[in-house]
Amino acid sequence: MSNNYKNWKVESDDEGIIWLHLDKADSVANVLSSEVLEELDAIITEVTKASPKGVVFLSDKDSGFIAGADVHEFTHIETKEQALEAIQRGHRVFNAIESLRCPTVALIHGFCLGGGLELALACRYRVADTELSTRLGLPEVRLGIHPGFGGTVRMIRQVGVINGLNAMLTGRSLSAKAAKKIGLVNFATPKRHHINAARSIIAKPPKPFKLPFWNKILNHNQVRPWIAKYMSKQVAKKAMRAHYPAPYAIIDLWVRCYDDPEFMLEEEINSIAELIIGKTAQNLIRVFLLNERLKSLGRTEDYKPTHVHVIGGGVMGGDIAIWCALRGFKVTLQDRQMETLSKVLQRANKLYTKKLKDRRSITAALDRLVPDIKGDGLVRADIIIEAIFEDPEVKRNLFSEIEPKLKKDAIIATNTSSIPLDELNTILKKPERLVGLHFFNPVAMMPLVEIVHSKKTDDQVLKNAAAFTRRIDRLPLPVTSTPGFLVNRVLMPYLIEAVILADEKIPLKVIDDEALEFGMPMGPIELADTVGLDICLKVAEILSEHMDISVPDRLRKMVEKGRLGKKSGRGFYTFKDGKPVKPAVPKGYKPPTDIQERLILRFINEAVACLRDKVVDDADLADAGIIFGTGFAPFRGGPFHYIESRGKDQVVKLLEQLEHRHGPRFKADQGWQQI
Ligand code: NAI
Repeated sequence: MSNNYKNWKVESDDEGIIWLHLDKADSVANVLSSEVLEELDAIITEVTKASPKGVVFLSDKDSGFIAGADVHEFTHIETKEQALEAIQRGHRVFNAIESLRCPTVALIHGFCLGGGLELALACRYRVADTELSTRLGLPEVRLGIHPGFGGTVRMIRQVGVINGLNAMLTGRSLSAKAAKKIGLVNFATPKRHHINAARSIIAKPPKPFKLPFWNKILNHNQVRPWIAKYMSKQVAKKAMRAHYPAPYAIIDLWVRCYDDPEFMLEEEINSIAELIIGKTAQNLIRVFLLNERLKSLGRTEDYKPTHVHVIGGGVMGGDIAIWCALRGFKVTLQDRQMETLSKVLQRANKLYTKKLKDRRSITAALDRLVPDIKGDGLVRADIIIEAIFEDPEVKRNLFSEIEPKLKKDAIIATNTSSIPLDELNTILKKPERLVGLHFFNPVAMMPLVEIVHSKKTDDQVLKNAAAFTRRIDRLPLPVTSTPGFLVNRVLMPYLIEAVILADEKIPLKVIDDEALEFGMPMGPIELADTVGLDICLKVAEILSEHMDISVPDRLRKMVEKGRLGKKSGRGFYTFKDGKPVKPAVPKGYKPPTDIQERLILRFINEAVACLRDKVVDDADLADAGIIFGTGFAPFRGGPFHYIESRGKDQVVKLLEQLEHRHGPRFKADQGWQQI
């Protein structure tokens, strides 16, 4: 066997086993780039001729087995022919692996995702490391596609129809233990045993995993259409077919072709080739790359904070502290009241139990979160996060009190959502150490953190704040300290327009449905109720001092009456068991045709204004921040990408028409001339 490959190391041992080590050149993680696959193609041709006793696939990277296909290469695919060519090569190689006469074993640690898991599924046996970092999954739907190297066939065959479809439709990944339970891997064992495990599997191949008998019934061609119907209904609750065709394509492939695996493999190729050149996949791939870009902003090797001190244990401070301790930091949490701190500990216990599952890890996380009423942790902390009342005077007083006690290079971060940093840093001896870390509520669900800087914020402090954000597994977005920063600023005109529509007696459900139909994760009325109408009102009032928006009277009145939304049980909607009860739309009601345009164009017009004001550096960062901060229809690739695909002139024309019909709040921002 030759061994002059750039990405693979081929070893043959005395027992006649061939060990194929993947170590992709110039990369921290293994991905199946075209080069990696081309080399594998050549290797498998040689292996077939060599008739070894067994073949073992393993990774030499610490980060894991294989993280998937090389997503960057997807952006170069423009035609269906190009897509077919790339996918067919993958199929050829994986089919050849599956056809090898000898036992084949994949030794898995860390990430084993997408194409990586498909390769492992083409092997006869899989062994997975029991470490928590091991994740096996087929997350392709998140990129608007589905498994394309035979995974749709092999996954269902291996783990059965329910587990197989579930994994592919949700894109969720599994631990080694969970994978073992459903038969996805044959053995879950610590990595140090992997080499021996592979040898004994090859010496004495175990019997394959047996699926329960009812799996056959579920796969029967008379039963499949029923299950498919049920599954499609479930999918439709989360993703509309028009917006996200991939999950429907998976169900369709299975229902049409499962009786004939070879035909299904062929159809898989066709189906993914269609999807990958479609708009949804291209936009979701764009979102993936934007995510990578945000991650790269926090890549600083030499900042290694270990201790976070949070001041203010309310809604935000409490959740920030809980999250930081979950991500491995030592956290001291200070508040004026012990009662508040004990509530935080209860919340922490709940979240850790859900996320960590095993008792030892839960106890360890709880141990890292230390209630600290006197603020003793201040002197040792690397980063201090302030999340007390939204009042400049109160915050300044706190800063002047704590600054003398801090370590010399400690960072002070404020979670303020509206106070300019220049109003807060005046009191500090070292104003350059103040930065904004603007988290969103709920902290455990919202991936974005706006990294807010004033003119005085030190560059290194900014970089360190971004690096810290990555360390707690959040996405940093640098923004200037302007009212509302990016996310709240673009959301506010959209929410206000929804309230205006409600004032015009448009049924609330109609307003929400229009936004959902555009692709928003939640309608604006429900969103306002969920955030809290008091918070919406406060942000709206602050923004109205700087922007041309008027705060609807209705909002004020509702807050006065204590109708605060979800938290008080009643806002625009009444809440039952934490869910809004949406009154049915009267029969025969015909809504005006421009509701969706009114909502979305106010949003987009404000995004353009933000770029003109240089709140963020460029349109891609604005798209990234808005998608990850507001959930803006990811399959549209962000507001600026939407403008581009719809045509800038066309959108400006629509704004002019809306201005004519509904007034100056729709006036196209001057920024349109610059994009
Ligand atoms: P909150 O009212 O729930 O909590 C504030 C906490 O700070 C209270 O527990 C209070 O006892 C404590 N506190 C006040 N002064 C203190 C002091 N001198 N020393 C120690 N503890 C003190 O407020 P919330 O909603 O958590 O907001 C905190 C900050 O986060 C504000 O600046 C707010 O603008 C910002 N924010 C709020 C969001 C939200 O959705 N609630 C979202 C993003 C930012």
